[in-house]
Amino acid sequence: MEGAVFYATKYGSTAEYADWIGQATGLPVFNVRKDEVDPERFDFLILATPVIYYKLLITDWVQRNMSKFEGKPIIMVTVSGAPPGPKLDAWVGDSLPAEFIAKATHVGLRGRQIPGELSWYDRAMLIIAAWRNPDPVASEEELNGFDYMDKESIAPIVALAKEYQSRKLAVPNANTAA
Ligand SMILES: Cc1cc2nc3c(=O)[nH]c(=O)nc-3n(C[C@H](O)[C@H](O)[C@H](O)COP(=O)(O)O)c2cc1C
Repeated sequence: MEGAVFYATKYGSTAEYADWIGQATGLPVFNVRKDEVDPERFDFLILATPVIYYKLLITDWVQRNMSKFEGKPIIMVTVSGAPPGPKLDAWVGDSLPAEFIAKATHVGLRGRQIPGELSWYDRAMLIIAAWRNPDPVASEEELNGFDYMDKESIAPIVALAKEYQSRKLAVPNANTAA
């Protein structure tokens, strides 16, 4: 089967993960905000997105293309400050329909946040969020940033993508057709 990586990114770390996945699998990689490529063309999809303000950045694009994902394997890759767990699952659940999430395989990766690279608006919002966050680790990261980028962490995504690539598409058999 033929697949592709579609990603959204705000500060580049998800783009970096998408490129690493593309290099490891040979799949083409597209930025949903720049490349006008129809996901319909592919048999399986890897959708990569950061979590920004408790929502997935790719949500609007996924909603617009929902009918094109019907029956296709989907690997949903999130990139966030928070590690995988109930908090991340809740943000994914708030961003996308439950039926879509139930059929997709979700892999949570951890990204990067460099305070000096942020817009003044994002910096101010994250300082306010840090003051209000009862979780001391998350609060410290919102204030001072973090870098959890890890090339090794794409391994389960690459393994699953390679399994999909090796699958043949079910073609109707002419001999048994009525
Ligand atoms: C404005 C802003 C809001 C963020 N909101 C969240 C959030 O709600 N939860 C979380 O776990 N991480 C959050 N993060 C961390 C990002 O998910 C992380 O920095 C990610 O690597 C960004 O991906 P990108 O570089 O592709 O834009 C936020 C980062 C920024 C800059």
